[in-house]
Amino acid sequence: MQTTIVYYSLSGNCRFAAEGAAALLGAETMELVPEKAYPEKGFAKFFHGGKSAVFGEAPALRPYSFPAETEQVLLVTPIWAGRIAPPLRSFLLREREALRGKRVAALFCCSGGGTEKAAAQLRELLDGADLEAALTLVDPKDKPSEEKHRALADFCAKLK
Ligand SMILES: Cc1cc2nc3c(=O)[nH]c(=O)nc-3n(C[C@H](O)[C@H](O)[C@H](O)COP(=O)(O)O)c2cc1C
Repeated sequence: MQTTIVYYSLSGNCRFAAEGAAALLGAETMELVPEKAYPEKGFAKFFHGGKSAVFGEAPALRPYSFPAETEQVLLVTPIWAGRIAPPLRSFLLREREALRGKRVAALFCCSGGGTEKAAAQLRELLDGADLEAALTLVDPKDKPSEEKHRALADFCAKLK
């Protein structure tokens, strides 16, 4: 099945997971890049990103080309304040029509908190479209493990 992996990553964990999934699925990745980058370090990183997520912002994204013919989309996002990262929110709001009828799966990267709110938010933004499968990995680049590698491989096997 033709799959496109759409991801946002501030500090590399989601990029790592997206690229790992791409290799396992033989899929293309598409990175979401906000026009105005979020701070990458210190207090500002958590303050600005957290505030943006809590306030439900949808930041402007750099131009991307989303292949309309793709059959399956794997969304990869960090969890920010329990929610999906705002650049993914921008993508979902903009591509709602294009996503209709496609198989959608999600991969969340977090540092150990819950992902229920993010999954609910995603379902709502997908406007009733089915979220077929979801996997959560705790900082897969910063804290790699054989177990996380296996979880990603099992998850991707289900998406094939
Ligand atoms: C602004 C901000 C808010 C975060 N909020 C949460 C959270 O609510 N729960 C959690 O488990 N991790 C939280 N994290 C940690 C990230 O989700 C986690 O480190 C993730 O792997 C980062 O992905 P990335 O390296 O691709 O940016 C937060 C990180 C940032 C920068």
